[in-house]
Amino acid sequence: MNKSMLKVDHIQFIQNSSCLVTGGAGFIGANLVEKLVSCGAKRIVVLDDLSTGDLGNIEGYFNADRVEFVNASITELDAIRSTFDRIDIVFQLAALGSVPRSIDNPVKTNNVNVDGFLNVLVAAKDAGVKKVVYSSSSSIYGDDNTIPKVEEKIGNPLSPYAVSKRSNELYAKVFRDVYGMDIIGLRYFNVFGPKQNINGPYAAVIPIFITNLLKGETCNINGDGTISRDFTFVQNVVEANILAAWAKIELENPVFNVAMGDQISLNELYNKIEDNIGSGLKPIHKEKRIGDILSSLADISKAKKYLGYEPGYDFQEGIKQTIEWYRKLY
Ligand SMILES: NC(=O)c1ccc[n+]([C@@H]2O[C@H](COP(=O)([O-])OP(=O)(O)OC[C@H]3O[C@@H](n4cnc5c(N)ncnc54)[C@H](O)[C@@H]3O)[C@@H](O)[C@H]2O)c1
Repeated sequence: MNKSMLKVDHIQFIQNSSCLVTGGAGFIGANLVEKLVSCGAKRIVVLDDLSTGDLGNIEGYFNADRVEFVNASITELDAIRSTFDRIDIVFQLAALGSVPRSIDNPVKTNNVNVDGFLNVLVAAKDAGVKKVVYSSSSSIYGDDNTIPKVEEKIGNPLSPYAVSKRSNELYAKVFRDVYGMDIIGLRYFNVFGPKQNINGPYAAVIPIFITNLLKGETCNINGDGTISRDFTFVQNVVEANILAAWAKIELENPVFNVAMGDQISLNELYNKIEDNIGSGLKPIHKEKRIGDILSSLADISKAKKYLGYEPGYDFQEGIKQTIEWYRKLY
């Protein structure tokens, strides 16, 4: 299955909009930039400090004269203010991802994900931006054991990263209520796809499995492999951002799960990737990681109802495209 959710109205809306993508040199941001370029957005500004992102993810688009890049950090309010001038939509993706990174360095995660996020809201407010769509995370469900996860029922955060994303949602609500801003939050569930960073100690599981197997190296699975995730192909997330930018929502809590609505255990995930690659290697099971939640299946009915979100790219299609992308690197 490989079907876009975007209708003519969404595409025309983007064509009439100037868009700022913070974190646009990163994995999801760069895929969003690619989509905005292909939709013909009036203007696209990418704001990124390249701390975990890669200019190579987007430099192919600078030929389109509508795409600009600003190298700055969202932690510096004065340095980013002017980037918000004449912007209609802010897609706020800039953050330090990864639960383990936040456990290793909670201050840094807080600085970027909380202080930086607040700066983005302030800059957007002061510049009169019409809409902010920001990236929250399934990590905020924390220790709540309800399955599937519904937006209104969250538990206690299990990591500094989860605290930072919860704080984003609280600030977004206050900025809606106090300043009347139009802000929508999307809680992504384990996104995967082309352009996801494989380098460094905080790389995500899918690019690690794929690149290891392509190189003929054994993969480690943390724990017994029964923990499950709602793995979501990045195109669904990109299109959810555009649907959210377009939507007019009058809800007390405009935060939406963005996922497949289906869960896969780490063991199944490994087998599906291995079926595609055929390396013949068996995984090794290691210690369970601190801060990892057991299961993260999303209820996506709220996003379906209010955003028209119907994930059009299924896991099989997504994993095939992702493996093909990594194959070109090796
Ligand atoms: N990938 C996932 O599975 C997932 C799941 C839930 C939520 N999210 C959220 O989605 C967003 C995008 O994640 P991603 O997976 O594309 O991560 P990524 O690391 O690939 O992209 C983040 C981008 O933000 C930039 N950035 C970091 N700090 C910055 C700063 N101080 N100023 C400006 N730019 C900065 C990085 O250089 C990078 O380009 C993040 O907010 C993340 O928390 C991701």
